[in-house]
Amino acid sequence: MVIGVLGAGTMGAGIAQLAAQNGHKVILVDKQEVQLKKAKDQLALILLKLIDKHKITSEKANEIQSAITYSTELSAFSSCGIIIEAILEQLDVKHSAFEQLEKVVSKECILASNTSSLSIASIGGALQKADRVLGIHFFNPAPLMPLVEVIPAVQTNVSFLEQAVSLMKSWDKTVVVCKDTPGFIVNRVARPFYGEALRIYEEGIADFATIDWAMTEIGGFKMGPFTLMDYIGNDVNYAVTTSIFEAFYYDPRFKPSFTQKRHSEAGFFGRKSGRGYFDYSEGAIIPTPVKDYELGQQIVDRILAMLINEAYDAVFMQVATAEAVDLAMTKGVNYPKGLIQWSKEIGTKEILSRLEKLFADYGEDRYRPNPLLRKEVLH
Ligand code: NAI
Repeated sequence: MVIGVLGAGTMGAGIAQLAAQNGHKVILVDKQEVQLKKAKDQLALILLKLIDKHKITSEKANEIQSAITYSTELSAFSSCGIIIEAILEQLDVKHSAFEQLEKVVSKECILASNTSSLSIASIGGALQKADRVLGIHFFNPAPLMPLVEVIPAVQTNVSFLEQAVSLMKSWDKTVVVCKDTPGFIVNRVARPFYGEALRIYEEGIADFATIDWAMTEIGGFKMGPFTLMDYIGNDVNYAVTTSIFEAFYYDPRFKPSFTQKRHSEAGFFGRKSGRGYFDYSEGAIIPTPVKDYELGQQIVDRILAMLINEAYDAVFMQVATAEAVDLAMTKGVNYPKGLIQWSKEIGTKEILSRLEKLFADYGEDRYRPNPLLRKEVLH
């Protein structure tokens, strides 16, 4: 099958590489010639590194390179069996792209979006034949991250969904199918990792370095929340949080934080701007955490209880199965354990009592325990 990729930025270039590595002919289209050139040059560098590391032969590298055709014209997509769109995260821009795409492809061509935050149904709204619209959400970098969330919209025909799932499996991806709801699985369930960490900071319980130390040293996470937000970019992370908060009709569980807003407003985006929660300039003093294990454990217990509550909510609201939620968090964002499994190891009763205490102490709806977690405890 010929694979079309629209948008040759970070994600599109990665998806094109992945498809070519899996033996497909790929058409990569971007409206900017300069982006296509950048994608091509970057791929050449990546392939050279892979040859150096003996991961691929130079013949395979040549095959991958020659499998990709670069174009600025949508008409280049005419022979594709699927198009994966990875352009600007803006509904009007995606609508106009999907309208144009439909004019150049066959009726059986799947039209997929790599959107992180927009509804697939709303993207499909631009199509005449919307039963072939889907979300195929990759994680950055697409060739390396094992997880793919596949999202059928209310309009999607099941046969297109099955085709997309088997295509992703043939690329050795771990596939989780989930409902077309804000943030899908990963970007929804992971919110408290950032939000509760920020809240703990705002209450003056601990500083950034201490919270990060607790979550890595005691919690076993690969990266602390503040280091991770500095990697993602505070502007990007704040925008995702805000869009999820709005999409959930302002549910206080997803309320954004002033601290992140202020950091973003100040241009403290993180690594890319040289300063975020931490200072990345040369010679900057690295803050030392307060290595108080009792405090650290309290921080981990609180953030973990909130993450687990969110994982139960995703299952409760039928976004995905418990197995899919656990797979998504371990394969998409490298959590040390699946959250549902983790809750059983700690004891669901213990998690419920942590949440009930938070709810009683603060009286905020944000801390309400999920009904499915409560049910689990009663069983
Ligand atoms: P990017 O800004 O790196 O690349 C976007 C590309 O699309 C640019 O090359 C731009 O020239 C091109 N473009 C914009 N409008 C176009 C149009 N109408 N026609 C053709 N080309 C057009 O963006 P990035 O980060 O690759 O994100 C793309 C999509 O993937 C977004 O929907 C984003 O939410 C989603 N996504 C991003 C992830 C990330 O970590 N960056 C992870 C998963 C999803």
